[in-house]
Amino acid sequence: MDLLREEIVEKMGNSKLVSKIQVFSELDSTNRYLKELAREGAKEGTVIIANQQSAGRGRLGRSFFSPENTGIYMSILLRPEIELQKSVRITSMAAVAVARAIEKVSGIEAKIKWVNDIFLNGKKVCGILAESGFNTMTGALDYVVLGIGVNVGTIEFPEELKEIATSVCNECKYTVTRTELIVEILKELEYWYPSLQDGGFLKESKERSLLLGNEILVVGTGESSYQAKALDLDDMGHLWIEKAGKKELLHSGEVSIKI
Ligand code: BTN
Repeated sequence: MDLLREEIVEKMGNSKLVSKIQVFSELDSTNRYLKELAREGAKEGTVIIANQQSAGRGRLGRSFFSPENTGIYMSILLRPEIELQKSVRITSMAAVAVARAIEKVSGIEAKIKWVNDIFLNGKKVCGILAESGFNTMTGALDYVVLGIGVNVGTIEFPEELKEIATSVCNECKYTVTRTELIVEILKELEYWYPSLQDGGFLKESKERSLLLGNEILVVGTGESSYQAKALDLDDMGHLWIEKAGKKELLHSGEVSIKI
């Protein structure tokens, strides 16, 4: 069944963050569409939701499986008034917010796989993709489109995802509706968004980390990969690792992690 905008708006009530919600039966990508609106001057807090995506995007140029009726495909427009270097915190802040929302509705501990994936029982249920736009004259941050994709009721996954992906309803015993999870996510985002400034979300980010203290495989852009130990997160949400006895700081744009 299609998602109902009125139901989402009613359950949301007043929000300090959300200014407008639009729901579509289908879009190619909610991130792509909202970036277009952002460039045309849309307001912070504009939320775009689709019942399915024909070209859902993931990190590092990957696609995001976005079948109809079973997932949340949502993008939120942010125009944070913070120093540019702090804007890299957005994905980590959002991961904390979304993990808490998923845990609240499912009753299952939600873990964060640095930097943008949420896991339930060792499998991915959610991916986050933050895409930024800059003022071409000044170089200042103009907007961030925060894209969130959650497998809520999906039962069948394509062959290549079967072993690594799951859905909220697959993992928990009771029914979770997309509407209630959308509302929870938006409420948690409203709560955590101000903590971008002082990094207040970082403690919880570490507590929910799937990686810290564990051996990981770091896969670089050129398919080169190496073993390392995940040590800690710094104040910006970058990952400290130990590689061949030496400490190194990883930035999320450059690598993917296997566990
Ligand atoms: C990832 O797993 O690498 C990130 C996936 C992000 C998917 C969401 S779904 C809503 C928004 N629109 C997109 O095209 N992508 C994000």
